[in-house]
Amino acid sequence: VSMVFGNVHAVKSASFDLPKGRFLTILGPSGSGKTTLLRMIAGFDRPTGGEIFINGQPVSAVPPHGRAIGMVFQKLALFPHMTAGENVAFPLKMRRHDARRIPEKVERYLDLVRLGGYGNRRINELSGGQQQRVAIARALVFEPDLLLLDEPLAALDRKLREEMQLEFRRIQKELGVTTINVTHDQREALV
Ligand SMILES: Nc1ncnc2c1ncn2[C@@H]1O[C@H](COP(=O)(O)OP(=O)(O)OP(=O)(O)O)[C@@H](O)[C@H]1O
Ligand SMILES: [Mg+2]
Repeated sequence: VSMVFGNVHAVKSASFDLPKGRFLTILGPSGSGKTTLLRMIAGFDRPTGGEIFINGQPVSAVPPHGRAIGMVFQKLALFPHMTAGENVAFPLKMRRHDARRIPEKVERYLDLVRLGGYGNRRINELSGGQQQRVAIARALVFEPDLLLLDEPLAALDRKLREEMQLEFRRIQKELGVTTINVTHDQREALV
């Protein structure tokens, strides 16, 4: 798959297969096209060349909300005026899940990221690492086929970043969700 912006070749014939349930890390320096690649997979940008297949199906005609993909962005993109629980419930409401089952599901995913009991906190009442974990719960709560992680740990201090790298691995193993993580940090890629 390729992406050209004017005279910038942001992604040049990237090609890979990712078996279901695996965790793939893509390592590359700033400006190498990592975010662009994830945005194309998620459906926010349309490739200028090539095709992406998910579960064997070409997805170029499928809008982002039609792809069962959870994404945690480089910049968090949480809703600051909502509580942690409301943020996690958002994708379920968008997808018209049974409203009676939403609170239980939200609590289960807050537990998964070790934020059980924090559902009523506003986003600005949480630490950076806690906000990060809300974003992860929000990306996973609707049980996506694919999880995309765009350097979600870059803003955290080193100790928390190292803890969260292991957390990601734990959560990914627990759920078995197919995951693509991008980073410019060689150590993180190795972890
Ligand atoms: N919407 C856009 N319009 C024009 N150029 C863009 C656009 N988005 C990205 N680019 C360019 O494409 C290249 C790849 O950008 P991208 O954001 O994918 O890199 P990245 O690997 O995610 O970098 P970083 O590690 O800094 O986040 C860069 O040269 C960037 O300036
Ligand atoms: Mg990027």
